[in-house]
Amino acid sequence: MLRFLEKKIHIFLSSCEKPHSQAEFGAKLYILQWEFPFSSRQHTTMKNILVTGGAGYIGSHTVVELFKAGYHPIIVDNFSNTDERLLHGIASITGQKPTLYKGDCCDLSFLTTVFESHALDGAIHFAAYKAVGESVEQPLKYYHNNILSLTNLLSLMAQYKVTQLVFSSSCTVYGQPDELPIREDGPESKAASPYGFTKQIGEQILRDFHQAHASFAIGMLRYFNPIGAHPSGLIGELPFGVPNNLVPFLTQATAGHRQALTVFGADYSTPDGSCIRDFIHVVDVAKAHVKTLNFLFNQSSCCEAINLGQGVGNSVLEVIHTFEEVNKVKVPYHIGERRMGDIVQIWADASKAKELLDWETELTLADALRDAWNWQCGLDDKKN
Ligand SMILES: NC(=O)c1ccc[n+]([C@@H]2O[C@H](COP(=O)([O-])OP(=O)(O)OC[C@H]3O[C@@H](n4cnc5c(N)ncnc54)[C@H](O)[C@@H]3O)[C@@H](O)[C@H]2O)c1
Repeated sequence: MLRFLEKKIHIFLSSCEKPHSQAEFGAKLYILQWEFPFSSRQHTTMKNILVTGGAGYIGSHTVVELFKAGYHPIIVDNFSNTDERLLHGIASITGQKPTLYKGDCCDLSFLTTVFESHALDGAIHFAAYKAVGESVEQPLKYYHNNILSLTNLLSLMAQYKVTQLVFSSSCTVYGQPDELPIREDGPESKAASPYGFTKQIGEQILRDFHQAHASFAIGMLRYFNPIGAHPSGLIGELPFGVPNNLVPFLTQATAGHRQALTVFGADYSTPDGSCIRDFIHVVDVAKAHVKTLNFLFNQSSCCEAINLGQGVGNSVLEVIHTFEEVNKVKVPYHIGERRMGDIVQIWADASKAKELLDWETELTLADALRDAWNWQCGLDDKKN
């Protein structure tokens, strides 16, 4: 333990003498605060997993599951879309503080210090911007962040021989499929937004990278619609500004923080006329990451796209009515015009995840909506 502290202080002092950048210096200070009480190298048998974007919504739930499974998560996050509440939540749920580096994956010298400081065994790459509408207005912001963070990460993984990677992809890569449920080998159509295109490009980069680096094992997880929060109510989605997604808007509108929810179109060719999506509890999504890592650690070489969904579609109106039923509240909503770019319906064929990862969903739509409301009520209690 003493040798470990000496080494850390040495790394810290050398970086004080010659900081590569302001970001790196800040990161070192931050890691001192967070790491020393809970040293990362105490558990030498634990695998170190870099989790970029690990302080965000899906990342924080995954960090909890990684701890539970005996991995040691090391978070890198620039806090562009989260804050420290989720870190405190992780610590309260698990009794462990994750190692944290505050910095940007687009900053190669900063990211290098993370690889220099830890013997990493694998990585999960969540860090990206994800607001579809904003990506239409500011495409370069999305291309810059989502692509550069990935290529920086890959170049360091190759350099430091860290060969297991889980990548956050999305069902947006499919567009509107002709056949449902959609399988991973189903056709992809032109992305409806620059955000969606960054996921298609990301997957292509990974396939090309794997061609050149066959010793890599890569899982590209195509999430359908993650919703809900941890059942403890200690972590959940923290959308900054007006939420882009249905459930956070719904909880905020029900709590009285927003105007009524608009259902964008109820005249589609679906049973109740509203759009259909495959909603999946965020804890199930998080558990899938652990199962994917377990799978990748047993592969000598692979690059697999895998759907993460329930395999069932629920309409927007069904979500609203289920929310009302499980939480005994009234949702303020009205039916509006169709929204440009919305696909009508999509749900996953999730059989590949079951086959390769031995993963399937355990939680229901009702569980997710109860947990989402519990999280919203907890946020409001803290404000009052
Ligand atoms: N939530 C969804 O509905 C959904 C669906 C499909 C795919 N995804 C993908 O899953 C991943 C995680 O999504 P989320 O919902 O948890 O989003 P999130 O915004 O809550 O988490 C992303 C985290 O990454 C951080 N980040 C962004 N750019 C960074 C950078 N350059 N360097 C360091 N940190 C950075 C943010 O601060 C945030 O904490 C994203 O890649 C997203 O595109 C999400």
